[in-house]
Amino acid sequence: MGKYIIAGNWKMNKLPSETYDYIKEVIDATKGSECEVVCCTPFVCLPQAVEAAKGSHVKIGAENLHFEDKGAFTGEVSAEMLKDLGVDYVIMGHSERREYNNETDETVNLKAKKALEKGLIPIVCCGESLEQREAGITMDWIAIQIKKAFAGISADDAKKVVVAYEPIWAIGTGKTATDDQAEEVCGGIRELLENLYDAETAKAITIQYGGSMNPKNCAGLLAKPNIDGGLIGGASLKSADFAVITKAA
Ligand code: G3H
Repeated sequence: MGKYIIAGNWKMNKLPSETYDYIKEVIDATKGSECEVVCCTPFVCLPQAVEAAKGSHVKIGAENLHFEDKGAFTGEVSAEMLKDLGVDYVIMGHSERREYNNETDETVNLKAKKALEKGLIPIVCCGESLEQREAGITMDWIAIQIKKAFAGISADDAKKVVVAYEPIWAIGTGKTATDDQAEEVCGGIRELLENLYDAETAKAITIQYGGSMNPKNCAGLLAKPNIDGGLIGGASLKSADFAVITKAA
């Protein structure tokens, strides 16, 4: 299916002063991994992360961006700024940003288009709440998120996008989706993408699972046919744990 990508999402953890050494640790620990290894860091850690990762197999990502090119947007960071720094990936639509920072399907779409225009790889997050899962509307909800995120994106560009399926109830809770639950939704996303584009495009898109993925449960999840990697929160903060996951992919 899509290229295997394991991306760490540090969230609001680690200091700029810790970043250079930690990225070096990740480089050492993940050597020999067959997947693409990515560390997404807070904006203030990106210069150190990019510097440390130079010439290595580890790629660096940001956790957010603004969809406008430039202007009076106090506190925001543009795609061009990230690109200029040497960043390769950028996360958008994470459920934490949807909950606390007014991220919507519309801003996710604008951000994805801007990232692609500037040569960054978007990691587009989607996922249902526990209430939605219990109401049996998981796939309906995900279908809305995916259709809106990909609106106006060509098949060629869509192939570059990474989708991260993150059930909200599994994030940071230690409560992972079972291998089958995760596969069912990731397979459903693949089908949606096939309907939006075509089979070749859908196959080329990396679909990650995220939500309490850790060294113990990663092998089962990553063995599923429609799970092409992971977006890792807590377990990306310890290089040894993160490396177990990158080596399972
Ligand atoms: O972006 C990563 C996800 O929110 C998963 O976080 O691995 O700490 O559950 P977690």
